Amino acid sequence: MPAIVIVGAQWGDEGKGKITDMLAERADVVARYNGGDNAGHSVQLGTERFALHQIPSGILYPDCLCIMGNGMVVNPRTLNRELDELASRGVDISPRRLKLSDRAHLNLPHHQALDGAAEAARGNKAIGTTRRGIGPCYADKASRSGLRAAELRAPAHFGAKLRAALEEKNRWLRDFYGQDPLDVDALVDEYVAHAERLAPYVADTTLLVNQALAAGKRVLCEGAQGTLLDLDHGTYPYVTSSYPTVGGALVGLGIGPRWVDRVIGVAKAYTSRVGAGPCPTELFDEVADHIVEVGREYGTTTGRRRRVGWLDLVVLRHAARVNSLDQWALTLLDVLTGLRPLRLAVAYEHEGRELRDFPSDAETLAACQPIYVELEGWDEDITGVQHFGDLPAAAQEYIRLIEEHTGVPVGLVSVGPERRQTILRMPL
Ligand code: IMP
Repeated sequence: MPAIVIVGAQWGDEGKGKITDMLAERADVVARYNGGDNAGHSVQLGTERFALHQIPSGILYPDCLCIMGNGMVVNPRTLNRELDELASRGVDISPRRLKLSDRAHLNLPHHQALDGAAEAARGNKAIGTTRRGIGPCYADKASRSGLRAAELRAPAHFGAKLRAALEEKNRWLRDFYGQDPLDVDALVDEYVAHAERLAPYVADTTLLVNQALAAGKRVLCEGAQGTLLDLDHGTYPYVTSSYPTVGGALVGLGIGPRWVDRVIGVAKAYTSRVGAGPCPTELFDEVADHIVEVGREYGTTTGRRRRVGWLDLVVLRHAARVNSLDQWALTLLDVLTGLRPLRLAVAYEHEGRELRDFPSDAETLAACQPIYVELEGWDEDITGVQHFGDLPAAAQEYIRLIEEHTGVPVGLVSVGPERRQTILRMPL
């Protein structure tokens, strides 16, 4: 059985956690391919709720091997915290079950300090990052000065390299940003201890994933964030610093495209984004308040209220194209219940011209006005609906419009947080 890739189609927070979790139950391997602890999703298992940031949700299934791929930037401090939390709740976190790529880069305290300092220095042009150090860490990776997880295997050497990095970045913090330097001795001690604890998890995960695929195992590739936060295909510069799109899965795990059987795009039935940057269908009225409250649109990682708006089919067409999506998993449809009328953006108007394709630069996007189609909406409670045919006519029409305007079938519709609250139109 080849690989299935799950990608977010919008600005992250599409509800990938639930879909990944449903697929993880039947997967042999769950492999995360990008980002770090900027991501976060909560998974409901029985009566327990688990908040995961870096560890794939497959960890909750005893027979599943979890991989943190080379495309990730891993924070040793928060990874150990996540491991402690899982262990305290009885989850088996032995290195037999969880592997950290030796090629993954380490997200270290100076990255977080520089992320915060750079954001503060940007003033009203801030990106609105999670301040988790993601950008500076990927920047070090690209400039070939980062530290990789392989270093954790030799804690003393790692400590020396970390000391040199901290001393260098302290000069930036102090001389360029006018900030207090980091406490090098204390951090080296702390991080050598993190290294000792994490060393047994470090492995050549590219080998493991490819061996699993060759042996016919089911591999689920889990992306964090979403297409519009992709460093190349998103709303640059208001993006994250990794590749949440399907190409990121190949590079970020070290697999070739012939293994990919299916690409599932997860999209919310409306739009949300956190952080700065244009969002053409954003709403500021009571409809926004309804969506935020009913959809609990507050960040899992930062607690920030998310910006929300109508569903944008220009965005979804872009995501369908750059990820060559096979199907949609549409989430949070129930949040739209009671909103009348409903609107979906099918194109933009820009300087008197109609744009059907997503523009590549943020300035053009900021000047776009959405062109909407309007639908009647519905008032019926849909949270118990199991079959497409039992949805109100307007909800069916909403889904048909998505298919018509993106050319991609909606294979799954989520109508509530629990697994049973799912309408399956195509096999998962
Ligand atoms: P960074 O990834 O912390 O550098 O943040 C860059 C942008 O990506 C900001 O707009 C963040 O709000 C956004 N972002 C990062 N991770 C997530 C996520 O998991 N969900 C939604 N937005 C995210």
